[in-house]
Amino acid sequence: MAGSGTAHLRDVGDAVLRVEHLVVEFPARRGQVVHAVSDVSFDVARGETLGLVGESGCGKTTTGRAVMQLERPTSGSVELLGRSLTSTDGASVRRLRRSMQMIFQDPVSSLNPRRRVRDLVREGLEIWGDPQGAFTSGRIDDIMRSVGLDPTETADRRPHEFSGGQCQRICIARALVMDPEVLILDEPVSALDVSVQAQILNLLEHLKNRFGLTMVFISHDLSVVKNVSDRVLVMYLGKVCEVAPTDAVFEAPAHPYTRALLASIPGNDLGLPPSTELISGELASPIDPPSGCRFRTRCPRATDLCAIREPLMRPIDDGHFVACHHPVVD
Ligand SMILES: Nc1ncnc2c1ncn2[C@@H]1O[C@H](COP(=O)(O)OP(=O)(O)OP(=O)(O)O)[C@@H](O)[C@H]1O
Ligand code: SF4
Ligand SMILES: [Mg+2]
Repeated sequence: MAGSGTAHLRDVGDAVLRVEHLVVEFPARRGQVVHAVSDVSFDVARGETLGLVGESGCGKTTTGRAVMQLERPTSGSVELLGRSLTSTDGASVRRLRRSMQMIFQDPVSSLNPRRRVRDLVREGLEIWGDPQGAFTSGRIDDIMRSVGLDPTETADRRPHEFSGGQCQRICIARALVMDPEVLILDEPVSALDVSVQAQILNLLEHLKNRFGLTMVFISHDLSVVKNVSDRVLVMYLGKVCEVAPTDAVFEAPAHPYTRALLASIPGNDLGLPPSTELISGELASPIDPPSGCRFRTRCPRATDLCAIREPLMRPIDDGHFVACHHPVVD
């Protein structure tokens, strides 16, 4: 089915996050099943940002939530810092989970409107505990300053007094207070004005370096992912299509779906005949996904083989992997 396999997993000793054969299914009406995430694997090395892209409904959020254990995976494994989140007991998962924080698309609704900003930033420590007692109020103020919030002016105010961009800064501070190794950012700038988007993206880059963070950056927008990611993973209908260093994805995209996504960015010019890039039709249903390659019902390169055999991930260049029977390789 756009594809499975683990050929793209690296033998990196310092992989902070390693996800293998992740499957998430939801029950649907009349005993049917939503195949939201179907055999997705990836790893993220220390200090790396992995961009996770694909159109609406392809399973990005479900993947992020299953990695965080906010959604119980149907099967598959998630390892954080070399330790399994999917097989360990509840207490160990709770301890490990502190090291991974998620930021959501809509910052305003992520925040309790009745709480003041300092309490919101401190909230994770109240819930998860602060075993080292490391977070004095001075440290909370430092974290607030690091995301561009002046504690004297903002600490006693409530979320409704802030713009969307400032609310996202509060959400980022709430995550940082937990001293995470990994941030999973689910469309962190999609709900913000374009000018504010750039500020938040710059802030994330700065924080990544300052706090030594590893990131998974989820977006439907390839042009946003381009500027923040070291590597990009493209998903279609719950499957991985292509994984490559960011430059390779933009300069030599090999999967027909990646090419279609790129071709849809205004002003993008791949220098190829337009017909090669076109896809038709709607995203197929995750309740009854197409046989073989899940992208075949929209793919301009599909053949009979694509209907009967699922393409597996395979290397086409250094660090560049694609799940397609007929990739575009120059
Ligand atoms: N709790 C749920 N119950 C049933 N189906 C679900 C549930 N959560 C997600 N889905 C379905 O799983 C599929 C993947 O959804 P998901 O939200 O992960 O996609 P996405 O790539 O994040 O999309 P978007 O870009 O719109 O945020 C969709 O078909 C969605 O309708
Ligand atoms: S050529 Fe076949 S395998 Fe490749 S994306 Fe198209 S349908 Fe899928
Ligand atoms: Mg989503």
